[in-house]
Amino acid sequence: MERKVMIDQAKVRVLLLENIHPDAVSRLEAAGYQVESVAGALDEAELVERIPGVRLLGIRSKSRVTAKVLAAADSLVAIGAFCIGTDQIDLAGASQAGIAVFNAPFSNTRSVVELALAEIIAMTRRLTEKNNLMHQGIWDKAANGSHEVRGRRLGIVGYGNIGTQLSVLAENLGMRVSFYDTADKLALGNAQRCSTMDELLAGSDVVTLHVDGRPGNAGFFGAEQFAKMRPGTLFLNLSRGIVVDHASLRDALVSGHLAGAAVDVFPTEPKGRGDEFRSELRGLPNVILTPHIGGSTEEAQSDIGDFVATKLVNFVQEGNTTLSVNLPSVALPASTDMSRVIHVHLNMPGVLAQVNSILAEHQVNVEGQLLSTRGEYGYLITDISGSYSDDVLEQLRGMSQTVRLRVLSNE
Ligand SMILES: NC(=O)c1ccc[n+]([C@@H]2O[C@H](COP(=O)([O-])OP(=O)(O)OC[C@H]3O[C@@H](n4cnc5c(N)ncnc54)[C@H](O)[C@@H]3O)[C@@H](O)[C@H]2O)c1
Repeated sequence: MERKVMIDQAKVRVLLLENIHPDAVSRLEAAGYQVESVAGALDEAELVERIPGVRLLGIRSKSRVTAKVLAAADSLVAIGAFCIGTDQIDLAGASQAGIAVFNAPFSNTRSVVELALAEIIAMTRRLTEKNNLMHQGIWDKAANGSHEVRGRRLGIVGYGNIGTQLSVLAENLGMRVSFYDTADKLALGNAQRCSTMDELLAGSDVVTLHVDGRPGNAGFFGAEQFAKMRPGTLFLNLSRGIVVDHASLRDALVSGHLAGAAVDVFPTEPKGRGDEFRSELRGLPNVILTPHIGGSTEEAQSDIGDFVATKLVNFVQEGNTTLSVNLPSVALPASTDMSRVIHVHLNMPGVLAQVNSILAEHQVNVEGQLLSTRGEYGYLITDISGSYSDDVLEQLRGMSQTVRLRVLSNE
């Protein structure tokens, strides 16, 4: 109940951990916020100590926002995960406290697509082999086994943010594209949808995986799938390490059934930079191995910084929750001559009617209103014109379903 506090546009304190990109700092400072940056991650006890008074917290993958941290966060309205994953945050606890969580689900997708394209061309031309021979002083000038990608068929398994972009760029290179996705997806360009994965596997020169890491996908791609590919197919996995059975992939490569593979993600990956990388795929010809760098470019880091910082600013200034990881998604353009009441509440019947009856009783004129619900929670934005008494806010705050009330006032 102590979370039912009113927040206005007063000075916003921001704590950014883990060397978050300078673009994020500039974006937040440009909004007038007081930003404190910490180079490394903080452990739970350190974060509990630092969090009081902080309105916005920015982290990457190493800082954990636990129930204890949330309990100490007396002023926190939003958390920015300047990365893709949000497993490091107690999302249920954040929702319970009416704290919005944002991440950057798209910022590094282009980087993954470009790496996949580079690898498709490199494997099709057998570039890694030629390069290795040259470094050994061997001039192997020959065309056999080297191909153009133009006219070859790319099979994309998982037609989401990455799969669709790859589809468009691969067609621009002259490739023919097929895709298979468990969800209904719009085919872009001339891409052909396959109704089964088997159909895709049987008809592709290159098969690339871009599925998500849902539990059902663990080990879903193994000996049976490799066997269904045409001899000489190239294979890529830049999605999740757990989805492919690497022992079967090795067998398919060693037997010569697959002509090459590019793998960026592994079932178990070394913890830190410089640690030994162990894999049955090491030492095989025409196999490109990269240390989970599909999304690791300076452009992606900068985009993540700007994307998440902008989400945080929009949330503080307008209450908009578009693409929030945990709260219902609501976006209503803000108007300078109105006050905005943001009501995070338990998703129970009658809340909207109750809010509006409190407003009506106090003769408050509603100019705009938008409600969205998600699971246990509802998020209601109400724009009101003219003056209103503190009693209105007290009554809204006093509703048993209220999780959090914020008022953005331009007065
Ligand atoms: N290598 C890297 O550094 C790197 C960087 C970013 C993302 N990724 C990974 O790339 C993958 C794709 O990312 P995205 O942003 O495109 O995700 P996304 O959620 O937008 O798309 C995933 C698609 O896969 C489909 N799908 C899931 N399971 C499937 C299955 N078994 N068969 C067919 N289709 C299936 C989904 O319906 C969805 O359309 C994710 O696993 C992500 O973690 C890797």
